[in-house]
Amino acid sequence: MDHALRARGLVKRYPRAPPGTYALSEVDLEIPPGVTFGLIGRNGAGKTTFVRIAATQLEPTGGQLEVLGFDVREQPREIRTRIACIPQESRPLYFLRTEEVVYLYLKMRGVDPTDARRRTRDVLSELELEPYRRQLVSNLSGGLRRRALVAMVFASDAELLFLDEPTTGLDPLARRQVWEAIRHAIREHRTIVLTTHYLDEAEALSARLALIDKGRVMLSGTAEELRARMPYPYRVTIAGPIDPEALRPYGRVTPVEGGHLVFARETDARELARWSLEHGYRLSLGPVSLEDIFLEIVGRPLIGIEDEEAPEEPVEAPRR
Ligand SMILES: Nc1ncnc2c1ncn2[C@@H]1O[C@H](COP(=O)(O)OP(=O)(O)OP(=O)(O)O)[C@@H](O)[C@H]1O
Ligand SMILES: [Mg+2]
Repeated sequence: MDHALRARGLVKRYPRAPPGTYALSEVDLEIPPGVTFGLIGRNGAGKTTFVRIAATQLEPTGGQLEVLGFDVREQPREIRTRIACIPQESRPLYFLRTEEVVYLYLKMRGVDPTDARRRTRDVLSELELEPYRRQLVSNLSGGLRRRALVAMVFASDAELLFLDEPTTGLDPLARRQVWEAIRHAIREHRTIVLTTHYLDEAEALSARLALIDKGRVMLSGTAEELRARMPYPYRVTIAGPIDPEALRPYGRVTPVEGGHLVFARETDARELARWSLEHGYRLSLGPVSLEDIFLEIVGRPLIGIEDEEAPEEPVEAPRR
């Protein structure tokens, strides 16, 4: 199979959505097997809608989606036995103990008891949940509950895992443990579809990424391919009281705290670095970040203050 997931002209319109608004609009996407694929986008971009359709929890309105070679409309049962999913904001059942969450999930998937016990033990130790093995889920902190869910799907034999914001609310250490679990699953040649608002996480884990906005795929590829699409692939930060006019010949200048950020082409970045050093300014130089790319393509930051204030923007009708 040359792809784990392939969407062609995928469209989703929710029944009670305002007329002409689409959660997904002509989405074309291919996800190769055996990699982590990062889906990034602002609140309401359509990430969860995509994941729910792929996990056969939601019917698409139009277009096609094949998951592990099966059609989501025609062969949902074939898909369901081969995937595992952590829905956004899901929680494990409160009245179970941590180890029971994992063990019972495996039993429900048809794993034999000896194997289920072994896998439960292994995953609890991998995610450092061993000390909480016998604790009731209702007594765990929010972060530990999310880790229990992560343990559950990683312990399964699913070929394809959907993780919808698996690390939201986790402390930095717990996030790293989830990252390690994801890397481990990749070594086992599984495919992971990951949605996240943490761009460092998306970049650290994903072999390929897609950036979606208002239901459309704006850009997809490896992080390097995304960078190569940028008009200015380098960022130079210069500290000090500099007149921005002096910087403008080198690229696009943005004021930042304590100095200026310049997006520049490679030769200009090099020139600017030399100029700054000659003038005794401190500088840092590197490739543009995923956050920069996001801002360039979408025109707004991934997480912005307008999230709380702006009303939901209507999505344009798909091109037909
Ligand atoms: N059940 C529903 N009924 C109607 N509209 C919905 C429903 N679920 C989602 N939507 C709308 O569909 C669009 C996409 O939502 P979705 O949850 O897929 O976004 P998302 O990218 O996962 O956002 P977030 O980052 O906040 O999780 C939004 O405009 C949302 O309001
Ligand atoms: Mg979501």
